[in-house]
Amino acid sequence: MLTIQDAVAVITGGAGGIGAELAKYWVQHGGKVVLSDVSESGLQQVAGELRAGGGQVATLAGDTTSEAACARLADLAIDTFGAIHLVAPAAGIIRDGLLVAPDRETGKVTKKMSLENFQAVININLTGVFLTVRECLERMINHNCRGLICLFSSTGSLGTAGQINYSSTKAAMNVMPKVITAELFRRGLAGQIRCVAIAPGYVGTPMVKGMNQKALEKILEQVPIGRLIEPAEVASLIGELYRNEALAGDTFFIHGGLRLGSKG
Ligand SMILES: NC(=O)c1ccc[n+]([C@@H]2O[C@H](COP(=O)([O-])OP(=O)(O)OC[C@H]3O[C@@H](n4cnc5c(N)ncnc54)[C@H](O)[C@@H]3O)[C@@H](O)[C@H]2O)c1
Repeated sequence: MLTIQDAVAVITGGAGGIGAELAKYWVQHGGKVVLSDVSESGLQQVAGELRAGGGQVATLAGDTTSEAACARLADLAIDTFGAIHLVAPAAGIIRDGLLVAPDRETGKVTKKMSLENFQAVININLTGVFLTVRECLERMINHNCRGLICLFSSTGSLGTAGQINYSSTKAAMNVMPKVITAELFRRGLAGQIRCVAIAPGYVGTPMVKGMNQKALEKILEQVPIGRLIEPAEVASLIGELYRNEALAGDTFFIHGGLRLGSKG
């Protein structure tokens, strides 16, 4: 079992819901955090709160779709704290819409998902994760660090109508832990550095609170525990995945019993 005390977490999307909550959890358990986000003001606010509570924090405002920014983030962790033990690429966005939307009266397609909305989600949720993980993993190996890469999938990875962009990126997050674990296994490193994904249902963060509220009410009717998942509950799951070194190469769902899959 690993302990969080003195362990270094690199968290992207650290100014937002789950990323910020994970940073809080990590610091409360004695860890150090390196946070990045496109929102510089949000980042400073979260870092200020963590430091006020005695947390050791480094920040870098940056976009995860930039190769240079991801390299700088991983370097910052090594330069500041000398190691990386947890990589949590939480930066992500949604840009929902139907692939094609036929008008209910005429039957003719009047709207379709724009290439811009498709690519924006692919760039941040997939390419941004690839770059963050690649740069951090390189340094974890070169500095002989032990720890976990925890990717952010979603129940949307099973296929949610209106999210062909988002669901596709989250399905990719389910397979990446298997690829990364297999590659590390080939080099005898899979016991030292593990990779998993978590797949939350609907978590009470700005991402979900910004959704169409009628749609959200309908969704909550399908959640047996009758409420949104708390960001703190997600952070706690990641803490357990970090500590328990038997957990590797798979996706762990946290959704309050949500009925899974698109129902048309
Ligand atoms: N909230 C949910 O219900 C839920 C469910 C399943 C999965 N997830 C996943 O968890 C992760 C975190 O979600 P959240 O709900 O905390 O989202 P959020 O919108 O609350 O926070 C995301 C953060 O990422 C930042 N960000 C966006 N694009 C960025 C970029 N290119 N570079 C750097 N930072 C960027 C935003 O500024 C924001 O602070 C996402 O990957 C999301 O897909 C969330």
